Amino acid sequence: MDRLKGKVALISGGARGQGAAEARLFVGEGARVVIGDVLDAETAKTADQINSKAGTRAAMAVHLDVTRAADWRAAVETCTREFGGLDILVNNAGIANSGGVEDTSEEEWDSVINVNQKGVWLGMKFAVPAMRKRGGGSIVNISSIYGIIGSGGSAAYHASKGAVRLLTKSAAVQYAGDKIRVNSVHPGVILTPMVEMASREQLQPVIDMAPMKRVAQPEEVGWCVVFLASDEASFVTGAELVVDGGYTAV
Ligand SMILES: NC(=O)c1ccc[n+]([C@@H]2O[C@H](COP(=O)([O-])OP(=O)(O)OC[C@H]3O[C@@H](n4cnc5c(N)ncnc54)[C@H](O)[C@@H]3O)[C@@H](O)[C@H]2O)c1
Repeated sequence: MDRLKGKVALISGGARGQGAAEARLFVGEGARVVIGDVLDAETAKTADQINSKAGTRAAMAVHLDVTRAADWRAAVETCTREFGGLDILVNNAGIANSGGVEDTSEEEWDSVINVNQKGVWLGMKFAVPAMRKRGGGSIVNISSIYGIIGSGGSAAYHASKGAVRLLTKSAAVQYAGDKIRVNSVHPGVILTPMVEMASREQLQPVIDMAPMKRVAQPEEVGWCVVFLASDEASFVTGAELVVDGGYTAV
């Protein structure tokens, strides 16, 4: 119950899906959480639901477009002003695309790279100074199995998630001396609005390729994020945690 007791977390893309699941699990483990997303109404609703269940103001909603430095600065300031500091950053916000190299427009490329790749860099850039003031911290960057392997489509998504994987290792090396751990998580097919947008025909072959032959619930990734965020993972940095029912083991 107290695996994150006393810690303050900032979760991007936390209005729904995996980010919302992580916010719920974090508060259940004793953390206070600032949830940032572009979906303001959904973010507020998620924070309200968490607070009613917790019986205390453990979650706060902020507007955060991860591509905007000013939004990140304000979100980190909210963590410090409202909850006293920042210990954990979950760079979870992300958008998908399906087009291959030739089928991806320049606009689509820029949009996916901006959210999935630049957003993760900006989050770390603004979170690290606040974590230093606390004497350390944990950053969890949500990549994907598509950051490790190719699929023949989703060119911008693969490029962005592969970049997150290496940016994570680079930051882990850079900030080890500051006691800030940086790890990446690589989910397979997780049942969230992102995946619910795909048709059963698109999804089934991907599900069939994983030895466990099923999709996962967001909490199955969330518990892995809890572990990496907590002091239980005190010697884990620069690691990539695959959560994919064996998809990439084949
Ligand atoms: N669902 C899957 O199967 C799957 C698999 C591998 C990796 N992922 C990754 O997991 C993460 C969470 O995705 P999810 O499955 O919960 O999907 P989701 O679409 O339910 O949630 C993504 C959230 O990110 C938010 N977001 C999008 N653009 C944003 C921006 N510019 N600024 C702030 N927030 C923004 C969305 O509003 C949404 O709330 C993403 O990084 C995604 O790429 C998902």
